[in-house]
Amino acid sequence: LERDAPQASLVVGDQSFPIRPGDTLAACLMRAGRLAFRRTRRGEPRGVYCGIGICHDCLATVDGTPNVRACITTARPGMIVSFGDDER
Ligand code: FES
Repeated sequence: LERDAPQASLVVGDQSFPIRPGDTLAACLMRAGRLAFRRTRRGEPRGVYCGIGICHDCLATVDGTPNVRACITTARPGMIVSFGDDER
């Protein structure tokens, strides 16, 4: 990615999120203001908790692969990401 290439983006649900070089998936979403990625069965919001790949609160499905940790996964243009209920 070029440093100032705002066209690069990934998709979560029906939303597109711009990517900057070096972004993790979580950083990309958080910079856009999305702090809660999903909800638990009890309706509690979940996003980044540890930020280092340990707690698994940030699990996503990326391009059909489940259980991807958003906090340690490098964002790539064109990624299709799902968090189950796609909390907004
Ligand atoms: S926030 Fe803990 S594993 Fe991603």
